[in-house]
Amino acid sequence: MKIGRIRLRNFRALYDVELKNIPPLAVFTGENGSGKSTLFQVFGFLKDALKNNVRVALQRMGGYREVATRGHTDEPIEVEIQFRMMLSDVNRLVTYYLAIATNESGVPVVQREILRYKRGGYGSSFHFLDFKNGEGYAISNEEDFNKPDKDLIRNYQSLDSPDVLAIKGLGQFQRFKAASAFRHLIENWHVSDFHIMAARQRVEAGVAEHLSETGDNLPLVAQHLHQNNRQTFNNILERFRERIPGMSQVTATATEDGHILLRFQDGSFKDPFIARYVSDGTIKMFAYLVLLHDPKPHPFLCIEGPENQLYPQLLGALVEELRDYATRGGQVFVSTHSPNVLNHVEIDEAFLLKKEQGITTIYPLADNQQIERFIEEGDKLGWLWNQGLLEI
Ligand SMILES: Nc1ncnc2c1ncn2[C@@H]1O[C@H](COP(=O)(O)OP(=O)(O)OP(=O)(O)O)[C@@H](O)[C@H]1O
Ligand SMILES: [Mg+2]
Repeated sequence: MKIGRIRLRNFRALYDVELKNIPPLAVFTGENGSGKSTLFQVFGFLKDALKNNVRVALQRMGGYREVATRGHTDEPIEVEIQFRMMLSDVNRLVTYYLAIATNESGVPVVQREILRYKRGGYGSSFHFLDFKNGEGYAISNEEDFNKPDKDLIRNYQSLDSPDVLAIKGLGQFQRFKAASAFRHLIENWHVSDFHIMAARQRVEAGVAEHLSETGDNLPLVAQHLHQNNRQTFNNILERFRERIPGMSQVTATATEDGHILLRFQDGSFKDPFIARYVSDGTIKMFAYLVLLHDPKPHPFLCIEGPENQLYPQLLGALVEELRDYATRGGQVFVSTHSPNVLNHVEIDEAFLLKKEQGITTIYPLADNQQIERFIEEGDKLGWLWNQGLLEI
């Protein structure tokens, strides 16, 4: 499943943006305050809205009036995501549309929620799910999409509350195929909020297959890979040794009081260092390797500023790893302030955010012919940026 297009309206500085032809790896750059983090917040917001409801998710971001673009609080917040997925053996272009508005009492509700895709090669898309203010329907025999309209079964429902997403309940049922696939995508996307301090801690013994968003289960994931996927673990270790001078071994060890902690062996000394005493970049590089070599990649991964704390020479390999991850099936969004990251990014992968009069526009760099010409002549995006030539 791959996201091809995103349209956002009235979400903070993103008053009206559209990203089209989104590549497997998409890299966003732009000045401070240009809206990169805001773009990434949309994914966290949707995940929270699915887990809880739109009211709670907005509340956590300061409430509807804070999230809607300044001066536009009377307009709905809209999110539209288009993705490709297999439905009954046919590759379909599915669109999810969500509009949130406030009711008469000022409380946020789902004004409209739609899942649509074309049934044939032509014609307009058909609504397989359509809800307004907690009332609506979903087609329960989607696999029969070739049948005439009258044979499609509309399953009418009232949701528990108008602030709940219909895909939350319906997405649990396999027969609502598109809803269940989209729900699965949101639940499994990973919006990294990595904290070095969290990743340094020892953790209570347990099992974890995937790195958490903060990275606080790093010792458990390392232990899991070591025990169950030695090849992946060794691959991670090999790359880690190449990148961090002196490092020879990493072990996840159990303490007497039932915790697991990471130890890093520096070849120059007999005793290893526990995670708390190794450098920031050491922890971060190890965590990134664990995240990016996950045998089961997330369908969608967002990382802000992967360059922070890392030696510039390591960033090329990191971009390669992000791209590998994206081609293994997990689409990747990255934001960056680093020319060294951009130097390894293809022009089709790069997007520039610009904020003018408080409103963000996102420009694909590939649309700029001058930049394209520079790249054809052998220039790199980071060099152009350093020379002030990444202007749109
Ligand atoms: N409701 C709103 N309406 C309009 N603008 C808003 C709203 N809420 C926040 N903003 C502005 O949007 C800007 C975008 O910030 P964001 O954190 O996305 O920038 P960024 O590109 O991540 O910057 P940095 O590189 O510094 O991390 C903020 O500086 C803020 O002033
Ligand atoms: Mg930011």
